[in-house]
Amino acid sequence: MAVPKVLCVVGARPNFMKIGPVIHALKRAGMAAPLVHTGQHYDEAMNDRFFTDLGLPRPDVNLEVGSGSHAQQTAEIMRRFEPVLDEQAPQALLVVGDVNSTIACALVAAKKGVMVVHVEAGLRSYDRAMPEEINRVLTDQISDLLFTTERDALGNLTREGIDSARVHFVGNVMIDTLVMNLPRAAPAAVTLRAAGAVFEGGYALVTLHRPSNVDDPVVLTRLVDTLAEIARQTPLVFPIHPRTRARIEAAGLMDRLSGANAVLLPPAGYLEMLGLMAGARLAITDSGGVQEETTALGVPCITVRENTERPITVTEGTNTVVGTDPALLLAAWRDVLVNGGKLGRIPEFWDGKAGERIAATLTKYLAG
Ligand code: UD1
Repeated sequence: MAVPKVLCVVGARPNFMKIGPVIHALKRAGMAAPLVHTGQHYDEAMNDRFFTDLGLPRPDVNLEVGSGSHAQQTAEIMRRFEPVLDEQAPQALLVVGDVNSTIACALVAAKKGVMVVHVEAGLRSYDRAMPEEINRVLTDQISDLLFTTERDALGNLTREGIDSARVHFVGNVMIDTLVMNLPRAAPAAVTLRAAGAVFEGGYALVTLHRPSNVDDPVVLTRLVDTLAEIARQTPLVFPIHPRTRARIEAAGLMDRLSGANAVLLPPAGYLEMLGLMAGARLAITDSGGVQEETTALGVPCITVRENTERPITVTEGTNTVVGTDPALLLAAWRDVLVNGGKLGRIPEFWDGKAGERIAATLTKYLAG
């Protein structure tokens, strides 16, 4: 019998941290796992460095779609992906996460009757203003096999009419990547020294890129001013996403940050970021991935969003969701300074073996 082929897709930064353990496990289980990159992220700092840091295989195909409005980007990925899917003729298409590349490729495959596998299914913020929430709901609806990172995801899926027989709780592949790479992480002290900074007594690691935080100048100004206030006592380390840098510059806010006790960096590579997270006193973020990674590392995390699609990071992990109210952000930061912040515990199956569980389940499906 021919070797089963599972076509894997990545497009944007958070996908890169998820796909490696899956591809390696599929190959170990005797499957072919070619990789398509949509090219949604393309900068050296947002793309190439992750492939090097994570030891990912070079994509077999790069669709090179680049940036655009959501409609343009999604449509362009679909248009360019269709002939690739035809040519590759896989038994299944595997997509991860919730970015535009995820829904675009899943939709093409579903319409062609190719089995769709979604890794990191069932997460819900219940906030349809987030583009990722729309991508999550729709991708899950058209997936044949759904792999979840936390047990509560099953309830979200069954409420949307998805048959529980298709849902498998396997754990978190992003934590597989973290567990594997932690020994290789770049020590924070080295990264900070290279940036000319020496901190005694710890720093807060900041990441911001959600449209809801950075696209509205009023919200962004309030956030930057609150961060500058925090920096008076806790130095900040802030690797800045390209869209965030553009918005900060457009709003004329760069001076307020560079005038504060803050190290402003270009987007960090994976090994650098892992070291910066592991060495931080706390993280202040709107990223989904950082909420999970800080929980795995036992570092207190303050999330500047009104909700999270990853509630286990709050109920079991180190995460506190504060929204964008400066008073709540400052209160959570003071709690870390005074009381140490949340300790948390590592959630079930965030153990470095999620990729293997996925491969074992897929083997059964594709054989049967
Ligand atoms: C995307 C994902 C988001 C994820 C984030 C991580 C969607 C809907 N969003 O958001 O879930 O958390 O990636 O980074 O898929 N840009 C560059 N260089 C790049 C890529 C982007 O300069 O390599 C700039 C462009 O100006 C672009 C903007 O960033 O227009 C936004 O990029 P886009 O891919 O549309 O969304 P992200 O905000 O990165």
